Amino acid sequence: MKKILITGGAGFIGSHVVRRFVNKYPDYEIVNLDKLTYAGNLANLTDVEARPNYRFVKADITDAAEINALFEKENFDAVIHLAAESHVDRSITDPTAFVMTNVIGTVNLLNSAREFWKGDYATKRFYHVSTDEVYGALGDTGMFTETTGYDPHSPYSASKASSDHFVRAYHDTYGIDVVISNCSNNYGSHHFPEKLIPLAINNIKNSLPVPVYGKGENIRDWLWVEDHARAIDVIFHEAKTGETYNIGGHNEWKNIDLIHLLCKIMDKKLGRKEGESASLITFVTDRAGHDLRYAIDSTKLQEKLNWVPSLQFEEGLEKTVEWYLDNEEWLTNVTSGNYQKYYETQYSAR
Ligand code: NAD
Ligand code: TYD
Repeated sequence: MKKILITGGAGFIGSHVVRRFVNKYPDYEIVNLDKLTYAGNLANLTDVEARPNYRFVKADITDAAEINALFEKENFDAVIHLAAESHVDRSITDPTAFVMTNVIGTVNLLNSAREFWKGDYATKRFYHVSTDEVYGALGDTGMFTETTGYDPHSPYSASKASSDHFVRAYHDTYGIDVVISNCSNNYGSHHFPEKLIPLAINNIKNSLPVPVYGKGENIRDWLWVEDHARAIDVIFHEAKTGETYNIGGHNEWKNIDLIHLLCKIMDKKLGRKEGESASLITFVTDRAGHDLRYAIDSTKLQEKLNWVPSLQFEEGLEKTVEWYLDNEEWLTNVTSGNYQKYYETQYSAR
């Protein structure tokens, strides 16, 4: 029996990772630790919350004493660390929150691992889930590989780069078994409607303006979130200690082209006449320090661990739109703030 601590499991990607592990590994004990910030939503996990191999712990990774007490009590075999402040725009208005959770929070987890896994470092695993944004921005050509130098630009990517460095430093200095993956932009169900795709879906649905930063010429490499969760599963189980893997969709889209595709899908799904959703597109002031282009070379993951993305983008986007339209209550609760009452009503009374 393996006891795995998954941090940030109530968030977008974390909830997909938790679901995958709970369903696929009934003999693992999955402990989901989450602070339940605005981005954490336990309603993301209603389908697995009653499983005997799943538990939720409300905790803040910036609280070293709380994290230490948990490690002492639980004797985890591994950590899959996803908890983070994750939105670039928020990092521009409040960088300190990103330093606290992404840097200090990660170091707190590493310190607990160092203390409570002493003498056993090789049999335990600390998996840090990171982003391709640590590599900075690309021009018109080239791709990020695992050996690309770090060159973060936003406070978000700077904080993730810093946490990556600390994870490697704890491996090199203390011998803790670590792995890191750096993934491109994810899309899919249960995504908080502040990032481009879920925000645009929500706005189009409600006939609100769809804000496109600058001229919409920035490029992102989109990956279906369940393909990311599958990659994490493979890397967690098969990567050698100290290794880094890049995860990406080989799926580059200019923001404006992506939004036009989304508008076309939404027109069809909502029974609108063609062009109605696209009329909502509104060009707004560009993001400060906006990275032009991200693109991941995931050859290492494909060749060494036999992982390839499973979904074509248009199919994935259509599935995603359908999920949001079929889960109106989830979306209403998230946009109204009601989802934050879920813990109080369903958990704290237990
Ligand atoms: P998210 O914002 O949806 O979820 C983050 C989760 O972390 C939330 O549940 C939140 O409550 C929790 N959290 C935040 N601060 C915490 C704290 N101090 N203590 C405990 N829990 C806390 O983020 P996401 O998009 O699911 O991203 C998950 C991870 O994957 C992050 O580390 C992010 O950097 C990385 N990542 C994201 C993407 C992407 O496209 N979203 C791409 C590559 C990597
Ligand atoms: P986002 O989803 O915030 O992810 P990231 O900044 O981590 O890549 O943004 C994706 C792209 O979409 C990015 O180039 C910024 C742009 N964008 C918009 O044009 N409008 C928006 O409302 C948002 C949130 C993002």
